[in-house]
Amino acid sequence: MATIFSGIQPTGEVHLGNYMGALRHWVSLSKRPEHEAFFSIVDCHAFTVPYDAKAFPKGVFETAVAVLAVGLDERATVFVQSDVPEHTELAWYLGCVAPMGELGRMTQFKEKSEQHKSSVGTGLFTYPILMAADILLYKATLVPVGHDQLQHLEFARDLARHFNHRFKTELFPEPKPHHLTLRIRGTDGGEKMSKSRNNTIAMLEPPQGIWKKLKGAFTDPQRVTREIPGRPEICNIYTMHTVVTPEPALTETIHAGCTTANIGCGDCKKLLAESLDRELAPVRERAAELRAQPKRVLEVLGDGASTCRARAAQTMAAVKEAAGVRGARSAP
Ligand code: TRP
Repeated sequence: MATIFSGIQPTGEVHLGNYMGALRHWVSLSKRPEHEAFFSIVDCHAFTVPYDAKAFPKGVFETAVAVLAVGLDERATVFVQSDVPEHTELAWYLGCVAPMGELGRMTQFKEKSEQHKSSVGTGLFTYPILMAADILLYKATLVPVGHDQLQHLEFARDLARHFNHRFKTELFPEPKPHHLTLRIRGTDGGEKMSKSRNNTIAMLEPPQGIWKKLKGAFTDPQRVTREIPGRPEICNIYTMHTVVTPEPALTETIHAGCTTANIGCGDCKKLLAESLDRELAPVRERAAELRAQPKRVLEVLGDGASTCRARAAQTMAAVKEAAGVRGARSAP
């Protein structure tokens, strides 16, 4: 039995990069009978950079709508991180065994502290400790993450080992990465689809909106005219075809059509828009239903948080036992 944990930040709308790169895999991993899975909307991680407190709750709700609309809650426990205070509590105890030097080497910290120069809080530095707490609180053994989070996961593994060693316990298993390698580029051809770069296509966008963005999206930059053959391997549109165009024959036709200049990028994008709509129309429908019943969303998240708190309480009791934390009972 493997326990899976992963998290998504509630900042900005869920886009096709999140959907194809992460959510879709989360759903299929959670459906395997040998897995139990926890997925969190990690709001506390989002507090590490400046944010709009007034708009924040809506972002959390919309992220919840998106993850429930893809059906993640069918086989997994879905919850909001701040509803389970043990995450920040465990982060403190882990922080006490976390080497500063290792934290200083985190590339995400270096990048983000450069980006938000004027307001770097300590939370940005200790971000990986909270992430380790998320994982270790459920003794998760398998963590689906993209390339940019592998370093944080390595850190979580080290921290589990440090804690176990320091307190001579085997409390924490070492969490292993389930590396999600598929990366969707931005519509501008940029490395990664990302809200902050304004190059995204929202997962819940209506078809006209999707088409508008697809139409202008980057393909193979060498294919400047219709007559020049394209290179599907480096084309973001083709990458998306391989995810959402289920018929292998059609994907092959597209591949052959592109490399022989028999189909143009416009036609290729039209086919992609159709495949996307086939897959996302039911997701949009479920999202609309959920938005119309916000209570239902809160109920699912509330149930998720109760399940997690029960699990978290057990781990915290064991952590405190191992670390000799007894509160008032420490008094002689
Ligand atoms: N830091 C991750 C990201 O930005 C989100 C995250 C928080 C996470 N806690 C986690 C991912 C625990 C995996 C496991 O993508």
